[in-house]
Amino acid sequence: MSSVPVNLTLKKLEMNTADLRSLLDLQDKIIAGFKPDEQHFILHRTIDDFSNALKSDHMYVFGLYDGDRLVSQSILSLPGDRDTRDLPEFAGEYKNSELAVFKAVLVDPEYRGRGLMKQMLKIREQVAAEHGRKIAITQIAADNPASWVNAIQYGMQITKVGFDPEDNAKVIYLQKRLDGKAPIPSEQNAYRLSLGSDVHKNVPALFNKMMKLSAAGMIGSAWDKQNNQIIWYPSATAARIKKRDRIFVPAARQSIGKI
Ligand SMILES: CC(C)(COP(=O)(O)OP(=O)(O)OC[C@H]1O[C@@H](n2cnc3c(N)ncnc32)[C@H](O)[C@@H]1OP(=O)(O)O)[C@@H](O)C(=O)NCCC(=O)NCCS
Repeated sequence: MSSVPVNLTLKKLEMNTADLRSLLDLQDKIIAGFKPDEQHFILHRTIDDFSNALKSDHMYVFGLYDGDRLVSQSILSLPGDRDTRDLPEFAGEYKNSELAVFKAVLVDPEYRGRGLMKQMLKIREQVAAEHGRKIAITQIAADNPASWVNAIQYGMQITKVGFDPEDNAKVIYLQKRLDGKAPIPSEQNAYRLSLGSDVHKNVPALFNKMMKLSAAGMIGSAWDKQNNQIIWYPSATAARIKKRDRIFVPAARQSIGKI
């Protein structure tokens, strides 16, 4: 990985013409670089969407700048209990005021692979924790492994896999505890999901497998870079159900070819 440019500065963007223009320009550049089948990776925000985020009292829009140039942006939402929150289909067991929603991380193609997305995850996590939020949540398109592999590397866990209720897209839901008390996984019954040599080609099979793992109560918890695998552990609930009802929880290491 290349080193991060030393002169990158982090800024919370404000509601003004210059910041709005920078956000739209970076988003336009990224959308222009997407292939047709990648357009759904991000919400295509309008000027009103960005204005609303910048004006909102519970959203933070962050930017990383190389000099005057915005090279990465992200949004953090800290909804109140009376707000309508993003991703209502996920993490419904928590109150809004316990949650932080990570949205819209974009990195200029010329600056990718230098850890900028991870910096954006880190800053949002810090701000969310400072506001007393317990859990960070996010949703990522299943066919955007660059993003979900990176989120897992950063400590987020896949706890739900399914279809976005708004557009039926295949999506992966991830969450992370912000109190540092990640549950200690049991190596017993761990399942290693290989991504294969061409992860993009394998996404349909991987998605089906991940849905099955998730439905069986497994949690995609760690990334084994050397072996190109996601390690899934049974959730406490799955372990309890398994003991009681002897449901099938996959135990063996299996390659994508066998899925
Ligand atoms: C996804 C995105 C934000 C990643 O940003 P980034 O700054 O390059 O990511 P980082 O440098 O922090 O992390 C790189 C890691 O991501 C993963 N990654 C990056 N590109 C990848 C690719 N094409 N395929 C698979 N994994 C990839 C790798 O695991 C890499 O790990 P490494 O550090 O061990 O090499 C960037 O590619 C992007 O802006 N994409 C378009 C917009 C988008 O899809 N946003 C996400 C919406 S949920």
